[in-house]
Amino acid sequence: MNLILLGAPGAGKGTLASYLIEKMGVPSVSTGNILREAIANGTELGQKAKAFMDAGQLVPDSLVIDLLKNRIAQDDCKKGFILDGFPRTIPQAEALDTIASIDCALSLEVPDEVIEGRMTGRRVCLKCGATYHVVNNPPKTEGVCDVCGDTLVIRKDDKPEVVEQRLATYHAQTEPLVAYYEAQGKLKAIDGTQGIHQTEAFAVAALGL
Ligand code: AP5
Ligand code: MG
Repeated sequence: MNLILLGAPGAGKGTLASYLIEKMGVPSVSTGNILREAIANGTELGQKAKAFMDAGQLVPDSLVIDLLKNRIAQDDCKKGFILDGFPRTIPQAEALDTIASIDCALSLEVPDEVIEGRMTGRRVCLKCGATYHVVNNPPKTEGVCDVCGDTLVIRKDDKPEVVEQRLATYHAQTEPLVAYYEAQGKLKAIDGTQGIHQTEAFAVAALGL
């Protein structure tokens, strides 16, 4: 299955993706994680993306579409994939339609009021991409990644003023994708406010896994 996870910043796309990787046996592709890795490695892509990300704005479509195309052309995506954070604009969705056949867009519905608490408590591993929350999903040892042992950090774009800008960017540029996939008959929406395990259960039911 080729699945898209739609949802606001902090809706829980990355958290659900890490569960569905096991459940569906396919890789997840997070454009946000790929871009953060590019910044950490100081690549040309990272240098171009950094200012946009730090400001809570979208990286230009041309950069992201190319990186996504290259990523899903790799062998591990042949049996299916989960897209986390792509597409984020109508032009990205139209480009995706020309390179892959999408089975379902699963929308995680979480109101803006809930997002802020999730962002302030989020801790991430920049090495392997794992995501935690100090209350909702703490690591076994404080500040240390369960998966790879690296030190957990607060994402640069999780500052309250940047979160506000990311939400505004989401509503203006990404939310129209809900109607785009609804018109294609591919949209499934679930409540994303009910805790991590309940969200996983809603996703399993919606996807018929
Ligand atoms: P990206 O990394 O994709 O960020 P985002 O979409 O803003 O989403 P987040 O990663 O912040 O949230 P999430 O939905 O994954 O939530 P999470 O699971 O972590 O993109 C970052 C930037 O890169 C963008 O701003 C843009 O600049 C650029 N970019 C990326 N893709 C792009 C594209 N296609 N085009 C252009 N630019 C692009 O959960 C959040 C927290 O809540 C965690 O602490 C988690 O533990 C907790 N949590 C999760 N689920 C639940 C639950 N059900 N109950 C309680 N707590 C929960
Ligand atoms: Mg994420």
